[in-house]
Amino acid sequence: MGRDKNLVFAVNGQRFELSDIDPSTTVLEFLRLHTRFKSVKLGCGEGGCGACVVLLSRYDPASDRVEDFTTSSCLTLLCSINGCSITTAEGLGNTKDGFHPIQKRFSGFHASQCGFCTPGMCMSLYGALVNAEKTDRPKPSKGFSKLTVSEAERAISGNLCRCTGYRSIADACKSFAANVDIEDLGLNTFWRKGEDKETCLSRLPPYDQNSDIRAFPEFLKDEVKASDGLGVEKCNWYSPVTFEALQCLLGSDGMDKGDRVKVVVGNTGVGYYKDYQHWDKYIDLRHIPELQVIVKDKTGIEIGAAVTITKAVKELRDFSEYLSNLDGGNIFRRLADHMEKIASGFIRNSASLGGNLVMAQREKFPSDIVTILLAGASSVKILAGLKVERITLEEFLRRPPLDPKTMLLSVKIPILKSNSSKVLFETYRAAPRPLGNALPYLNAAFLAEVSQCDSSNNTRINSCRMVFGAHSSQHAVRARKLEDVLVGEKVLSLSLLSEAIEVVKKIVVPEDGISSSAYRTSLAAGFVFTFLIPLIESALPIPKYLDGYSGLVKAVEQERDQLSYGKQVVEVDKQYTPVGDPVAKSQSTIQASGEAVYVDDIPSPTNCLYGAFIYSMKPLVRVKSITFSPSLPKDVVISVVSFQDIPIGGENLGSRTIFGSEPLFADELAHCAGDRVAFVVAESQKLADMAAEAAVIDYDMEDLETPILSVEDAVERLSFFEVLPIFYPEKVGDFSKGMAEADQKILSAQIQLGSQYYFYMENQSALAIPDEDNCMVVHSSTQTPEFLHGTIARCLGVPEHNIRVITRRVGGGFGGKAARAMPVSVACAVAAHKLNRPVRTYLNRKTDMIMAGGRHPMKVTYSVGFKSNGKITALHVDILINGGLSPDISPIMPHNMVNTLKKYDWGNLSFDFKVCKTNHTSKSAMRAPGKVQASFIAEAVIEHVASVLSMEVDVIRTVNLHTQNSLSLFYPGSVGGLEEYTVPLTWVKLGFSSDLAQRTKEIKEFNLCNTWKKRGISRVPIIYEVAVRPTPGKVSLLSDGSVVVEVGGIELGQGLWTKVKQMVAFALSAVQCDGPMDLLEKVRVVQADTLSVTQGGWTAGSTTSEASCQAVQLCCDILVERLRPLRDRLREQQESITWNVLVQQAYLQPVNLSASAFYCPELSSMQYLNYGAAVSEVEIDVLTGETRILRSDIIYDCGKSLNPAVDLGQIEGAFVQGIGFFMLEEYTTNSEGLVNTKGTWTYKIPTLDTVPREFNVEILNSGHHKGRVLSSKASGEPPLLLAASVHCATRAAIKEARRQLLSWSSLDTTDSPFQLDVPATMSVVKELCGLDSVEKYLRWRMSAK
Ligand SMILES: Cc1cc2nc3c(=O)[nH]c(=O)nc-3n(C[C@H](O)[C@H](O)[C@H](O)COP(=O)(O)OP(=O)(O)OC[C@H]3O[C@@H](n4cnc5c(N)ncnc54)[C@H](O)[C@@H]3O)c2cc1C
Ligand code: FES
Ligand code: FES
Repeated sequence: MGRDKNLVFAVNGQRFELSDIDPSTTVLEFLRLHTRFKSVKLGCGEGGCGACVVLLSRYDPASDRVEDFTTSSCLTLLCSINGCSITTAEGLGNTKDGFHPIQKRFSGFHASQCGFCTPGMCMSLYGALVNAEKTDRPKPSKGFSKLTVSEAERAISGNLCRCTGYRSIADACKSFAANVDIEDLGLNTFWRKGEDKETCLSRLPPYDQNSDIRAFPEFLKDEVKASDGLGVEKCNWYSPVTFEALQCLLGSDGMDKGDRVKVVVGNTGVGYYKDYQHWDKYIDLRHIPELQVIVKDKTGIEIGAAVTITKAVKELRDFSEYLSNLDGGNIFRRLADHMEKIASGFIRNSASLGGNLVMAQREKFPSDIVTILLAGASSVKILAGLKVERITLEEFLRRPPLDPKTMLLSVKIPILKSNSSKVLFETYRAAPRPLGNALPYLNAAFLAEVSQCDSSNNTRINSCRMVFGAHSSQHAVRARKLEDVLVGEKVLSLSLLSEAIEVVKKIVVPEDGISSSAYRTSLAAGFVFTFLIPLIESALPIPKYLDGYSGLVKAVEQERDQLSYGKQVVEVDKQYTPVGDPVAKSQSTIQASGEAVYVDDIPSPTNCLYGAFIYSMKPLVRVKSITFSPSLPKDVVISVVSFQDIPIGGENLGSRTIFGSEPLFADELAHCAGDRVAFVVAESQKLADMAAEAAVIDYDMEDLETPILSVEDAVERLSFFEVLPIFYPEKVGDFSKGMAEADQKILSAQIQLGSQYYFYMENQSALAIPDEDNCMVVHSSTQTPEFLHGTIARCLGVPEHNIRVITRRVGGGFGGKAARAMPVSVACAVAAHKLNRPVRTYLNRKTDMIMAGGRHPMKVTYSVGFKSNGKITALHVDILINGGLSPDISPIMPHNMVNTLKKYDWGNLSFDFKVCKTNHTSKSAMRAPGKVQASFIAEAVIEHVASVLSMEVDVIRTVNLHTQNSLSLFYPGSVGGLEEYTVPLTWVKLGFSSDLAQRTKEIKEFNLCNTWKKRGISRVPIIYEVAVRPTPGKVSLLSDGSVVVEVGGIELGQGLWTKVKQMVAFALSAVQCDGPMDLLEKVRVVQADTLSVTQGGWTAGSTTSEASCQAVQLCCDILVERLRPLRDRLREQQESITWNVLVQQAYLQPVNLSASAFYCPELSSMQYLNYGAAVSEVEIDVLTGETRILRSDIIYDCGKSLNPAVDLGQIEGAFVQGIGFFMLEEYTTNSEGLVNTKGTWTYKIPTLDTVPREFNVEILNSGHHKGRVLSSKASGEPPLLLAASVHCATRAAIKEARRQLLSWSSLDTTDSPFQLDVPATMSVVKELCGLDSVEKYLRWRMSAK
């Protein structure tokens, strides 16, 4: 395994030796394409999601030690892991060798839904576990590890999950922590509430460090020992170990010959600057000793450029502990604290300090490290030719972009201390997610040497370095003018601070094109204020403030607390066992081990090709031609499939719903940015993506109308989709009459709502395989196999029986894998038909985001009349819905919206909807389509009324809750039994259980005492109508007694298969042989196959699980009827008959042991209402606009839950997806409608650090419900709407900040209405709290003096 030998490494203990590999191959590509280890999932390909995390272990023969660290396999290059051992989730445990306790606990804590994120989560936890065990902490008690609760949570804080809401995942992780209180852990399958600690502990799948930590393979150790232990030098990959060798490679052996040479360390930079080019040579810098140095002495610390951020953090912490505070040690601690918020653990473990600085120097990357090191007066050593030069970091940044031959060697951070004065150092960053994996809007770091004036307690700044970064397209800079203002003979005072802030506002000015520019400027003012105000306000001696603002210290410490915990209250109903039992999700262990097969995990058939979409970048254009950039190697493109390739007799059809269809490809005209123009086919996905990226479309706009890019344009040009009268909702009462009864009115108030992207973790994917006799088998990640099936047949012009669509499981859908998934599969089918070869695709995240469409944006105008006591008498809404290009499901939006709008008793309700046809990608169903928007509108109206009346919002809500009478009036078709209406009960119950009254009081006090933090609390109800649709099922008994089940519904992570299994076991137990729990083990639900079970319909609308359950119950009833006579006969011969014997005998008779059924709900009970309520409390930071959700309490009525654990997961997951919609996720387009938030860098879904810190959920078991499937109710979508409580609580907190702001200007502090946008991002909140709050505060303070 020498450097000129082959690349050798191990995966899960298996040896791999490669002699010929493309050096651009990532570990993920290798594992997925060339091994059976498919647990590494591709979620983003840019380091932003954690789905691909593996553990990398490196053996050092000199110390005989193994270094273990997690890394993102999508960025790590294969050639960089010579001599390493990779552990994937399959290596932890699997079906054959047994599962690892991590996997068992993930399953038992219900921490896996769709399962796509689960292997990566398990590996992130495993990495933390392995490293904790290496510490010299005391031996933990049996079953636990040395991990702490905080480390367990932080281990997964950079991993994304779109399904669970994280609480359950955090619990699974915390269950390993030595300091966990087991009573704090949530619902699981191991113990039941009330059992004593000993019992609980004994049930937890045992963990034993000795057997559960995988050892580094001995054979590899021997090979490493026998070799020089250095990097491989093969396949155009070079690992120089001296400067001379490096220079040779860069010079005469490389670049001078015209080679394209890429220098790498961790290769994480590619996550940001996507690399589609071809490189002739790769040079790995990690083996040059000078780049790995750590030198600590009395002048400071020098860190080699190739040292990882993780290692740098550790060294800085050690150094700070070694130095006393007075020796300036705190600076190093602060630097480490800040660096720990960069990216995520699995990135920091590979990302080098030097790589970060070079990215900033060369490309102006918005680096945190540059900012903080610049303030720390750091210097760098660089190597140009053979000349080593030390320059200040400032000088380094100022120089022209580093030429490719100049190397950064190290960074030196000096110890700054002064005998006569004190050194203060603080760093700041404002980012959408506090614990990293989010670039900051602005970062800053301030260093000040201060002394106290002899005559007073006043403070003077003797010198300072004030640095701001990440706010513009330039790298961080020192704000010299600001420094000049602060330094000198002047003592710090409010007026000096005020002057400084005016200066900073002129310095930190993002250039045009940078988003939220005024916000970023105001952040800068806030940071300066935060740094300096304690020095002015306090007469305390300076040392107290050595860390900067003490409030900030507290904030940092708080972050070390638990990120999320909560209580769950569920009632387990035994009436229909095992239905009602919180059994673990079916197949959750194989999801955790990564053995669960998703479409892209199916091995490629021989001859398989790969496709990628070429889409229009512009709206409404003629496509004249498609060519490829000359940089694309000639033989990459195998075929370009377009509308011209639709077979004769076929149709250019990409998707269809009951409302209409959408073409597969643009014909002469592309109608929107993101419209599919063609599908380029190549020999691998990488090449197909590269080709699509290199496609150049020649557009022509001559004689074309201007595109319709707004709902206003659509209205002007009367561009609407028709909404048939049967889908148009009915008004309630008489709006004019209601207005006439009103004491007060609000007229024509407006709200705008944006879109939301699904962010399923598994991107759209499909595999089409031509079969005999003009048939085609298509594996698709879809929620609608039946509709897809018909669409493919029509597109290819073949009978439907020629097509078979197979869907085993889907890695999250949320509506996005219904109509929007169809074109992906259809395109593969057309390409496969054209080329007569299998064709597959796995969309990359960017393409997925550009084409997905997402939630409907809209513009709303409302008028409302109300009495002085807050009772609303009439509401009218005019809603312009942006439906995009094709009808999709948009015509159902008015129906959906009105049904949810009716959650309050408006007295009289009228509306006007226009579903606008625009030149945007088609908007589609996203979890709770239209309903979440309507719920928000209802709350906005209530808030507005409260504000006009200056009344408590909670009072207005209570006054307008439905009575049973008004409920019947508003929901005549779905109200059901009035005794089922649980909102009034839930409303009161939640008030008590959440301690609403007391907390409201405490919040008032908190707000009085705190200037820069404000809190708000809010309680909201929901009423959510769902409709049950006809659904098929098929149950077959096999000769050994095992049971195989097929249903129309698709397992998307929502637990459909689990509930179906439970129902089958329950229904078959009617034959009274084995107990239902024994039967549960015998049931397997298998993939949906559209030729086996037809009429599967859509898995959507929250009711497919219950309908599928009902369908299989019907099947089981038939089977039980058929088996009963035989059972009775057998019982005459012997007293007890086992299930297996019964089935074996039935096979001999023979009895037909396969039954299918089609469940058709009765018209009278097809629609029903779901109820719930939530209380949320938030804290906003008035200076940064950050919102922290301190606590959320939910009570949700599940009827008699079919599986409380599954429903709990749906409730928590939906709520957190709702938090994303209301607080974080900005799915925006440029002025031409092209999506510009197209990856994990710009689109921020919630992570563990942004969910409610305390998250309590009670599932109300409201007993018998006529017409419901075993009295159950839906849980998939409705709880998403409850996240409005977070938005409303934020509004309440902002209200307090605004009152305070008005009071500083001596203005009337009575509430004035304001619009809080969705999402209420940091900049939105800050803007409402006053971008100039600091200036106003200072003016007020100065005038008071
Ligand atoms: C998901 C994610 C989130 C991130 N979040 C943040 C964040 O919040 N804040 C922040 O500051 N950073 C963030 N980063 C950036 C991260 O810190 C850098 O990607 C990383 O430090 C680069 O190091 P690397 O070793 O991977 O560099 P590589 O990717 O290997 O190299 C990057 C570039 O630098 C060049 N290079 C590397 N080392 C040298 C050297 N010694 N001399 C000359 N040229 C060199 C390479 O040729 C290449 O052009 C994030 C990155 C990712 C992937
Ligand atoms: S796929 Fe690697 S981090 Fe997302
Ligand atoms: S379970 Fe985490 S993404 Fe689906």
